[in-house]
Amino acid sequence: MAILFTGIKQLLTFAGDKAPRAGSAMRETGLVKNAAVLVEGGVIAAAGPRAAVHRHKLAKKAKVVETGGVCLPGFVDSHTHMVFAEPRLKDFSMRTAGASYAEIKAAGGGIVSSIGAVRKQALKPMAAQLARRAELFLECGTTTAEVKSGYGLSLDSELKMLRAVRAAKKLTRLELVPTLLAAHGVPPEFAGDAQKYLDHITAEILPRAVHEKLAVFADIFCEKGYFTPEQTTAYLKEAARLGLRPKVHSEQLSNYGGTRAGAAAGAVSADHADHVFAEDIAAMRDAGTIAALLPASNYYLGLSKFPPAREIIAEGVPVALATDFNPGTCPCWNMQFVLSAACTHCSMTPEEAICAATVNGAWALGMGERCGAVMPGMQADLAFFAADDYRELCYYFGASQCAMTVKKGRVVHEVK
Ligand code: NIG
Ligand code: FE
Repeated sequence: MAILFTGIKQLLTFAGDKAPRAGSAMRETGLVKNAAVLVEGGVIAAAGPRAAVHRHKLAKKAKVVETGGVCLPGFVDSHTHMVFAEPRLKDFSMRTAGASYAEIKAAGGGIVSSIGAVRKQALKPMAAQLARRAELFLECGTTTAEVKSGYGLSLDSELKMLRAVRAAKKLTRLELVPTLLAAHGVPPEFAGDAQKYLDHITAEILPRAVHEKLAVFADIFCEKGYFTPEQTTAYLKEAARLGLRPKVHSEQLSNYGGTRAGAAAGAVSADHADHVFAEDIAAMRDAGTIAALLPASNYYLGLSKFPPAREIIAEGVPVALATDFNPGTCPCWNMQFVLSAACTHCSMTPEEAICAATVNGAWALGMGERCGAVMPGMQADLAFFAADDYRELCYYFGASQCAMTVKKGRVVHEVK
Protein backbone atom coordinates (compact mmCIF):
# COMPACT_ATOMS: atom_id res chain seq x y z
CA MET A 1 0.00 0.00 0.00
CA ALA A 2 1.25 3.47 -0.87
CA ILE A 3 2.05 5.90 1.96
CA LEU A 4 1.61 9.66 1.68
CA PHE A 5 3.81 11.66 4.05
CA THR A 6 2.26 15.09 4.00
CA GLY A 7 2.05 18.41 5.83
CA ILE A 8 5.84 18.73 5.63
CA LYS A 9 6.83 22.34 6.40
CA GLN A 10 10.14 22.09 4.56
CA LEU A 11 11.32 19.25 2.32
CA LEU A 12 14.92 19.23 1.10
CA THR A 13 14.90 16.99 -1.97
CA PHE A 14 18.44 17.58 -3.30
CA ALA A 15 16.86 16.81 -6.67
CA GLY A 16 19.49 17.31 -9.35
CA ASP A 17 22.14 15.50 -11.31
CA LYS A 18 22.82 11.89 -10.36
CA ALA A 19 26.39 12.80 -9.48
CA PRO A 20 28.32 14.00 -6.42
CA ARG A 21 27.64 17.70 -5.82
CA ALA A 22 30.58 20.11 -5.93
CA GLY A 23 31.09 23.87 -5.58
CA SER A 24 27.93 25.96 -5.54
CA ALA A 25 25.82 22.87 -6.38
CA MET A 26 26.37 21.80 -2.76
CA ARG A 27 24.08 24.66 -1.72
CA GLU A 28 21.20 23.60 -3.98
CA THR A 29 18.88 21.90 -1.52
CA GLY A 30 15.79 21.60 -3.74
CA LEU A 31 13.76 23.16 -0.90
CA VAL A 32 9.98 22.73 -1.18
CA LYS A 33 7.72 24.38 1.40
CA ASN A 34 4.39 22.77 2.33
CA ALA A 35 5.41 19.51 0.74
CA ALA A 36 4.51 15.84 0.52
CA VAL A 37 6.30 12.60 -0.37
CA LEU A 38 4.44 9.64 -1.84
CA VAL A 39 6.00 6.22 -1.39
CA GLU A 40 5.08 2.92 -3.04
CA GLY A 41 6.92 -0.38 -2.75
CA GLY A 42 9.79 1.14 -0.80
CA VAL A 43 10.47 3.64 -3.58
CA ILE A 44 9.60 7.33 -3.95
CA ALA A 45 6.70 7.74 -6.39
CA ALA A 46 6.41 11.53 -6.09
CA ALA A 47 7.87 14.34 -4.01
CA GLY A 48 7.22 18.07 -4.11
CA PRO A 49 4.50 20.64 -3.43
CA ARG A 50 1.68 19.11 -1.38
CA ALA A 51 -1.09 19.89 -3.86
CA ALA A 52 0.78 18.35 -6.80
CA VAL A 53 1.73 15.16 -4.93
CA HIS A 54 -1.84 14.76 -3.63
CA ARG A 55 -3.05 14.72 -7.26
CA HIS A 56 -0.86 11.68 -8.09
CA LYS A 57 -2.98 8.65 -9.00
CA LEU A 58 -1.53 6.57 -6.14
CA ALA A 59 -2.30 9.26 -3.54
CA LYS A 60 -6.05 8.61 -3.37
CA LYS A 61 -5.74 5.15 -1.82
CA ALA A 62 -2.55 5.83 0.12
CA LYS A 63 -2.23 5.68 3.88
CA VAL A 64 -1.84 9.33 4.94
CA VAL A 65 0.76 10.30 7.54
CA GLU A 66 0.61 13.96 8.67
CA THR A 67 4.19 14.76 9.64
CA GLY A 68 4.78 18.51 9.97
CA GLY A 69 8.41 19.51 10.51
CA VAL A 70 11.38 19.18 8.20
CA CYS A 71 12.02 16.20 5.91
CA LEU A 72 15.39 15.26 4.42
CA PRO A 73 16.86 12.26 2.64
CA GLY A 74 17.98 9.91 5.44
CA PHE A 75 21.57 10.61 6.45
CA VAL A 76 24.16 8.44 4.72
CA ASP A 77 27.04 8.01 7.15
CA SER A 78 29.91 7.00 4.88
CA HIS A 79 32.56 6.35 7.57
CA THR A 80 32.08 4.39 10.80
CA HIS A 81 33.95 1.82 12.86
CA MET A 82 30.72 0.56 14.39
CA VAL A 83 32.00 -2.92 15.31
CA PHE A 84 34.03 -2.83 18.52
CA ALA A 85 33.64 -4.84 21.69
CA GLU A 86 34.46 -2.29 24.40
CA PRO A 87 34.68 1.47 24.80
CA ARG A 88 38.22 2.77 25.41
CA LEU A 89 37.64 4.44 28.76
CA LYS A 90 41.28 4.22 29.81
CA ASP A 91 42.24 6.20 26.71
CA PHE A 92 39.51 8.68 27.59
CA SER A 93 40.88 9.20 31.10
CA MET A 94 44.37 9.73 29.69
CA ARG A 95 42.93 12.20 27.21
CA THR A 96 41.18 14.20 29.90
CA ALA A 97 44.51 14.28 31.75
CA GLY A 98 46.06 15.93 28.69
CA ALA A 99 47.56 13.04 26.65
CA SER A 100 47.47 13.30 22.85
CA TYR A 101 46.36 10.52 20.43
CA ALA A 102 50.05 9.70 19.75
CA GLU A 103 50.91 9.64 23.47
CA ILE A 104 47.99 7.31 24.19
CA LYS A 105 49.19 4.99 21.41
CA ALA A 106 52.74 5.03 22.81
CA ALA A 107 51.35 4.06 26.24
CA GLY A 108 49.67 0.96 24.82
CA GLY A 109 46.26 2.48 24.06
CA GLY A 110 44.84 3.33 20.65
CA ILE A 111 43.68 1.03 17.87
CA VAL A 112 45.74 -2.01 18.90
CA SER A 113 44.30 -1.89 22.43
CA SER A 114 40.85 -2.66 20.97
CA ILE A 115 41.94 -5.98 19.47
CA GLY A 116 42.00 -8.13 22.63
CA ALA A 117 38.28 -7.89 23.33
CA VAL A 118 37.35 -8.07 19.64
CA ARG A 119 39.33 -11.28 19.14
CA LYS A 120 37.66 -12.81 22.20
CA GLN A 121 34.10 -11.83 21.30
CA ALA A 122 32.03 -14.48 19.52
CA LEU A 123 30.32 -13.71 16.23
CA LYS A 124 26.76 -13.80 17.57
CA PRO A 125 27.16 -11.28 20.42
CA MET A 126 29.25 -9.13 18.09
CA ALA A 127 26.42 -9.03 15.55
CA ALA A 128 23.83 -8.39 18.28
CA GLN A 129 25.90 -5.50 19.69
CA LEU A 130 26.26 -4.04 16.20
CA ALA A 131 22.51 -4.30 15.59
CA ARG A 132 21.81 -2.48 18.89
CA ARG A 133 24.15 0.31 17.82
CA ALA A 134 22.47 0.43 14.43
CA GLU A 135 19.18 1.31 16.18
CA LEU A 136 20.87 4.38 17.70
CA PHE A 137 21.82 5.55 14.21
CA LEU A 138 18.24 5.05 12.96
CA GLU A 139 16.93 7.08 15.94
CA CYS A 140 19.06 10.01 14.79
CA GLY A 141 17.86 9.90 11.16
CA THR A 142 20.65 7.85 9.58
CA THR A 143 19.34 5.28 7.10
CA THR A 144 22.61 3.93 5.65
CA ALA A 145 26.00 3.51 7.30
CA GLU A 146 29.34 2.15 6.22
CA VAL A 147 30.95 -0.23 8.75
CA LYS A 148 34.67 -0.95 8.84
CA SER A 149 36.53 -3.90 10.24
CA GLY A 150 39.96 -3.04 11.66
CA TYR A 151 39.93 -3.95 15.34
CA GLY A 152 40.82 -7.62 14.88
CA LEU A 153 43.97 -7.33 12.75
CA SER A 154 44.21 -11.08 12.15
CA LEU A 155 42.67 -13.32 9.49
CA ASP A 156 40.03 -14.84 11.76
CA SER A 157 39.04 -11.72 13.63
CA GLU A 158 38.88 -9.44 10.59
CA LEU A 159 36.66 -11.94 8.78
CA LYS A 160 34.59 -12.32 11.96
CA MET A 161 33.97 -8.57 12.08
CA LEU A 162 32.78 -8.56 8.47
CA ARG A 163 30.65 -11.65 9.05
CA ALA A 164 29.12 -9.83 12.02
CA VAL A 165 28.11 -7.02 9.67
CA ARG A 166 26.49 -9.58 7.38
CA ALA A 167 24.68 -11.21 10.32
CA ALA A 168 23.55 -7.84 11.73
CA LYS A 169 21.82 -7.02 8.44
CA LYS A 170 19.16 -9.54 9.45
CA LEU A 171 18.69 -7.82 12.83
CA THR A 172 18.36 -4.16 11.86
CA ARG A 173 16.77 -2.02 9.15
CA LEU A 174 19.80 0.26 8.99
CA GLU A 175 21.49 -0.45 5.65
CA LEU A 176 25.07 -1.50 6.41
CA VAL A 177 27.90 -1.26 3.88
CA PRO A 178 31.00 -3.28 4.86
CA THR A 179 34.61 -2.16 4.44
CA LEU A 180 37.72 -4.25 5.02
CA LEU A 181 40.10 -2.19 7.16
CA ALA A 182 42.59 -4.89 8.11
CA ALA A 183 45.26 -2.25 7.36
CA HIS A 184 44.26 -0.12 10.34
CA GLY A 185 47.40 -0.73 12.40
CA VAL A 186 50.14 -3.29 12.87
CA PRO A 187 49.20 -6.03 15.37
CA PRO A 188 51.73 -7.10 18.04
CA GLU A 189 52.43 -10.43 16.28
CA PHE A 190 54.21 -8.47 13.52
CA ALA A 191 56.36 -6.47 15.95
CA GLY A 192 56.10 -3.19 14.08
CA ASP A 193 56.85 -4.70 10.65
CA ALA A 194 54.11 -2.95 8.68
CA GLN A 195 55.20 -4.37 5.31
CA LYS A 196 55.17 -7.93 6.57
CA TYR A 197 51.67 -7.46 7.97
CA LEU A 198 50.50 -5.81 4.74
CA ASP A 199 51.88 -8.77 2.76
CA HIS A 200 49.87 -11.05 5.06
CA ILE A 201 46.71 -9.00 4.46
CA THR A 202 47.29 -9.06 0.71
CA ALA A 203 48.01 -12.80 0.58
CA GLU A 204 45.46 -14.08 3.10
CA ILE A 205 42.84 -11.64 4.40
CA LEU A 206 41.97 -9.66 1.27
CA PRO A 207 41.38 -12.69 -1.02
CA ARG A 208 39.22 -14.40 1.64
CA ALA A 209 37.13 -11.27 2.19
CA VAL A 210 36.66 -11.01 -1.58
CA HIS A 211 35.91 -14.71 -2.02
CA GLU A 212 33.21 -14.64 0.68
CA LYS A 213 31.86 -11.31 -0.66
CA LEU A 214 32.25 -9.82 2.80
CA ALA A 215 33.26 -6.29 1.82
CA VAL A 216 32.46 -3.62 -0.75
CA PHE A 217 35.39 -1.31 0.07
CA ALA A 218 39.00 -1.67 1.21
CA ASP A 219 40.49 1.04 3.43
CA ILE A 220 43.94 1.73 4.90
CA PHE A 221 45.26 4.14 7.56
CA CYS A 222 48.04 6.12 5.89
CA GLU A 223 49.95 7.90 8.65
CA LYS A 224 53.36 7.94 10.30
CA GLY A 225 53.64 4.82 12.45
CA TYR A 226 50.91 3.03 10.47
CA PHE A 227 51.25 2.63 6.66
CA THR A 228 53.22 4.72 4.15
CA PRO A 229 51.89 6.42 0.99
CA GLU A 230 53.76 3.88 -1.17
CA GLN A 231 52.23 0.97 0.73
CA THR A 232 48.83 2.68 0.50
CA THR A 233 48.84 2.98 -3.30
CA ALA A 234 50.14 -0.56 -3.84
CA TYR A 235 47.67 -2.10 -1.40
CA LEU A 236 44.63 -0.20 -2.68
CA LYS A 237 45.51 -1.05 -6.30
CA GLU A 238 45.65 -4.72 -5.39
CA ALA A 239 42.34 -4.45 -3.52
CA ALA A 240 40.80 -2.76 -6.57
CA ARG A 241 42.18 -5.47 -8.85
CA LEU A 242 40.35 -8.02 -6.72
CA GLY A 243 37.11 -6.03 -6.87
CA LEU A 244 37.02 -3.92 -3.70
CA ARG A 245 36.62 -0.16 -4.11
CA PRO A 246 39.43 1.84 -2.46
CA LYS A 247 39.10 4.31 0.41
CA VAL A 248 41.81 5.86 2.55
CA HIS A 249 42.26 7.41 6.02
CA SER A 250 44.58 10.25 5.12
CA GLU A 251 46.04 13.51 6.38
CA GLN A 252 44.40 12.98 9.76
CA LEU A 253 47.34 13.66 12.10
CA SER A 254 49.86 15.18 9.68
CA ASN A 255 50.44 15.91 6.00
CA TYR A 256 51.90 12.57 5.00
CA GLY A 257 50.78 11.99 1.39
CA GLY A 258 47.91 9.55 1.96
CA THR A 259 45.39 11.60 0.02
CA ARG A 260 47.55 11.63 -3.10
CA ALA A 261 48.41 7.97 -2.57
CA GLY A 262 44.71 7.12 -2.37
CA ALA A 263 43.82 9.26 -5.37
CA ALA A 264 46.55 7.48 -7.38
CA ALA A 265 44.75 4.19 -6.70
CA GLY A 266 41.35 5.68 -7.66
CA ALA A 267 40.00 6.07 -4.11
CA VAL A 268 36.27 6.74 -4.00
CA SER A 269 36.87 8.91 -0.93
CA ALA A 270 39.80 10.23 1.05
CA ASP A 271 38.72 10.59 4.66
CA HIS A 272 39.67 13.11 7.38
CA ALA A 273 41.69 15.59 5.21
CA ASP A 274 42.59 17.71 8.25
CA HIS A 275 46.10 18.47 7.01
CA VAL A 276 45.59 18.60 3.23
CA PHE A 277 47.63 21.05 1.14
CA ALA A 278 46.69 22.49 -2.25
CA GLU A 279 48.35 19.60 -4.13
CA ASP A 280 46.32 17.05 -2.16
CA ILE A 281 43.08 18.87 -2.95
CA ALA A 282 44.06 19.04 -6.64
CA ALA A 283 44.80 15.29 -6.64
CA MET A 284 41.31 14.56 -5.25
CA ARG A 285 39.70 16.79 -7.85
CA ASP A 286 41.64 15.24 -10.71
CA ALA A 287 40.92 11.67 -9.58
CA GLY A 288 37.21 12.29 -8.82
CA THR A 289 37.84 11.42 -5.17
CA ILE A 290 35.33 12.72 -2.62
CA ALA A 291 36.69 14.39 0.54
CA ALA A 292 34.92 12.78 3.51
CA LEU A 293 35.31 15.14 6.48
CA LEU A 294 34.87 13.88 10.05
CA PRO A 295 34.81 16.98 12.26
CA ALA A 296 33.20 15.26 15.25
CA SER A 297 36.50 13.41 15.74
CA ASN A 298 38.42 16.71 15.82
CA TYR A 299 35.93 17.95 18.40
CA TYR A 300 36.33 14.84 20.55
CA LEU A 301 40.13 14.95 20.33
CA GLY A 302 39.99 18.58 21.49
CA LEU A 303 41.85 19.77 18.41
CA SER A 304 41.91 23.39 17.35
CA LYS A 305 42.50 22.36 13.73
CA PHE A 306 39.54 21.22 11.64
CA PRO A 307 39.46 20.13 7.99
CA PRO A 308 39.68 23.09 5.58
CA ALA A 309 36.25 22.58 4.04
CA ARG A 310 36.12 26.03 2.41
CA GLU A 311 39.34 25.45 0.45
CA ILE A 312 38.23 21.97 -0.58
CA ILE A 313 34.81 23.17 -1.76
CA ALA A 314 36.37 26.17 -3.54
CA GLU A 315 38.53 23.79 -5.58
CA GLY A 316 35.49 21.85 -6.76
CA VAL A 317 36.00 18.67 -4.73
CA PRO A 318 32.69 17.20 -3.50
CA VAL A 319 32.62 17.04 0.30
CA ALA A 320 30.86 14.34 2.33
CA LEU A 321 30.37 14.43 6.10
CA ALA A 322 30.38 11.35 8.31
CA THR A 323 30.55 10.55 12.02
CA ASP A 324 33.67 8.32 12.14
CA PHE A 325 31.87 6.61 15.05
CA ASN A 326 34.59 4.59 16.82
CA PRO A 327 35.88 3.92 20.36
CA GLY A 328 39.09 5.93 20.06
CA THR A 329 38.54 9.22 18.26
CA CYS A 330 34.78 9.68 17.99
CA PRO A 331 32.23 7.97 20.24
CA CYS A 332 29.35 9.80 18.51
CA TRP A 333 26.73 8.29 16.19
CA ASN A 334 24.59 11.38 15.70
CA MET A 335 24.97 12.99 12.26
CA GLN A 336 23.18 16.08 13.60
CA PHE A 337 26.21 16.74 15.81
CA VAL A 338 28.42 16.40 12.73
CA LEU A 339 26.31 19.05 10.96
CA SER A 340 26.84 21.39 13.90
CA ALA A 341 30.60 20.78 14.00
CA ALA A 342 30.89 21.27 10.22
CA CYS A 343 29.06 24.60 10.35
CA THR A 344 30.65 25.99 13.51
CA HIS A 345 34.23 24.71 13.04
CA CYS A 346 34.64 24.23 9.26
CA SER A 347 32.58 27.25 8.11
CA MET A 348 30.31 25.10 5.97
CA THR A 349 26.86 26.53 5.34
CA PRO A 350 23.87 24.53 6.60
CA GLU A 351 22.95 23.80 2.98
CA GLU A 352 26.42 22.44 2.20
CA ALA A 353 26.56 20.45 5.42
CA ILE A 354 23.22 18.73 4.84
CA CYS A 355 24.15 18.01 1.20
CA ALA A 356 27.43 16.49 2.44
CA ALA A 357 25.60 14.30 4.97
CA THR A 358 23.04 12.97 2.48
CA VAL A 359 23.60 13.08 -1.26
CA ASN A 360 27.42 13.27 -1.16
CA GLY A 361 27.55 10.65 1.61
CA ALA A 362 25.65 8.34 -0.72
CA TRP A 363 28.17 8.96 -3.51
CA ALA A 364 31.04 8.33 -1.09
CA LEU A 365 29.52 4.84 -0.76
CA GLY A 366 28.92 4.48 -4.50
CA MET A 367 25.16 4.46 -3.85
CA GLY A 368 24.18 7.89 -5.14
CA GLU A 369 22.11 6.42 -7.97
CA ARG A 370 19.60 5.00 -5.51
CA CYS A 371 19.76 6.97 -2.24
CA GLY A 372 20.77 10.31 -0.76
CA ALA A 373 18.12 12.41 -2.52
CA VAL A 374 14.31 12.52 -2.56
CA MET A 375 13.51 11.94 -6.21
CA PRO A 376 11.00 9.66 -7.92
CA GLY A 377 12.47 6.20 -8.44
CA MET A 378 14.92 6.45 -5.55
CA GLN A 379 14.83 4.40 -2.37
CA ALA A 380 12.34 5.87 0.14
CA ASP A 381 14.90 6.63 2.85
CA LEU A 382 13.64 9.68 4.76
CA ALA A 383 14.33 11.47 8.02
CA PHE A 384 11.78 13.80 9.64
CA PHE A 385 12.74 16.39 12.25
CA ALA A 386 10.77 18.41 14.82
CA ALA A 387 11.81 21.78 13.39
CA ASP A 388 10.28 24.65 11.42
CA ASP A 389 13.40 25.42 9.39
CA TYR A 390 16.12 23.02 8.18
CA ARG A 391 18.84 25.30 9.58
CA GLU A 392 17.71 24.34 13.09
CA LEU A 393 19.35 20.94 12.48
CA CYS A 394 22.73 22.65 12.35
CA TYR A 395 21.94 25.27 14.99
CA TYR A 396 20.78 23.17 17.95
CA PHE A 397 23.32 20.61 19.04
CA GLY A 398 23.84 17.89 21.61
CA ALA A 399 20.48 16.19 21.15
CA SER A 400 18.50 14.52 18.40
CA GLN A 401 15.64 16.42 16.76
CA CYS A 402 14.72 13.37 14.69
CA ALA A 403 11.01 12.59 15.05
CA MET A 404 10.69 9.77 12.50
CA THR A 405 12.93 7.69 10.26
CA VAL A 406 11.72 5.84 7.18
CA LYS A 407 13.82 3.13 5.53
CA LYS A 408 12.75 1.75 2.15
CA GLY A 409 9.26 3.11 2.79
CA ARG A 410 8.87 1.59 6.24
CA VAL A 411 8.71 3.62 9.48
CA VAL A 412 11.68 2.28 11.48
CA HIS A 413 11.79 4.90 14.24
CA GLU A 414 9.14 7.23 15.60
CA VAL A 415 8.98 9.53 18.61
CA LYS A 416 5.44 9.06 19.94
O1 NIG B 1 39.17 7.33 11.88
N1 NIG B 1 42.50 6.90 12.20
C1 NIG B 1 42.18 5.77 12.19
N2 NIG B 1 41.02 5.26 12.56
C2 NIG B 1 40.08 5.88 13.44
C3 NIG B 1 40.55 5.83 14.84
C4 NIG B 1 40.33 4.52 15.38
C5 NIG B 1 40.67 4.37 16.84
O2 NIG B 1 41.37 5.18 17.46
O3 NIG B 1 40.19 3.36 17.33
C6 NIG B 1 39.71 7.25 12.97
O4 NIG B 1 39.90 8.26 13.65
FE1 FE C 1 38.02 6.29 10.78
